[in-house]
Amino acid sequence: MAKLLHIDASPRGNRSHSRRLTREFVEAWKKANPIDTIIYRDIGRNPIPHVTEAWIAAAFTPEEKRSPQMREALSFSDELRDELLAADLYVMGIPMYNWSVTSGFKAYIDNVVRIDRTWAYIPDENPEFPYKPLVHGKKMFVIASRGDGGFASGERNYKRDFQVPLIKETFEMLGITDITFITVENDEYGGQKLADSLIAARSRISELVAA
Ligand SMILES: Cc1cc2nc3c(=O)[nH]c(=O)nc-3n(C[C@H](O)[C@H](O)[C@H](O)COP(=O)(O)O)c2cc1C
Repeated sequence: MAKLLHIDASPRGNRSHSRRLTREFVEAWKKANPIDTIIYRDIGRNPIPHVTEAWIAAAFTPEEKRSPQMREALSFSDELRDELLAADLYVMGIPMYNWSVTSGFKAYIDNVVRIDRTWAYIPDENPEFPYKPLVHGKKMFVIASRGDGGFASGERNYKRDFQVPLIKETFEMLGITDITFITVENDEYGGQKLADSLIAARSRISELVAA
């Protein structure tokens, strides 16, 4: 039995490809695997607040020294962080906006990348990369949607892809290293190009769920 955390980051509803495909992924996964809990968070439609000065002051104060106001400033971030830590498996739909992730998903990242809870600063162990991961044994699937195409290695937009590398580096820093990306491209062209990309994404989802 496993706990699955399903996150949608697209602000769009029925027109969102990532949203439709995360739903299909989760439905197929449920049929193929015993899942005891599915937690759903729609951060596209219910935006995550950006971090504030009060949040930063609280997050970088040791837990035992935090005032009640500091605890309050961190309470929603604590909820998001605990949700991430409690799940075994993540399915996230994340659109590309201006070559990167949506600002809503970036706000989510800022809230779950928490010192001493999801990573630790240990300069003595490795001065070159003093960030120690604290999250282990998780599996993550990302449906990454884009309007354009040509983001694979050597293709015309490869150097503009700040979406997949940002997600990969950020979650790997926390210890979530088993990440599989399924891309949907060509939304802005529509027609056969988009249809082919959706067929490829659905077939990849079926393969992954069967495996
Ligand atoms: C504000 C905004 C910025 C976007 N920026 C890019 C971009 O830089 N590159 C790209 O390929 N597509 C871009 N797109 C297109 C989306 O990535 C595309 O529509 C995708 O399908 C959105 O995901 P969704 O279908 O799940 O809503 C942008 C769309 C919006 C609304």
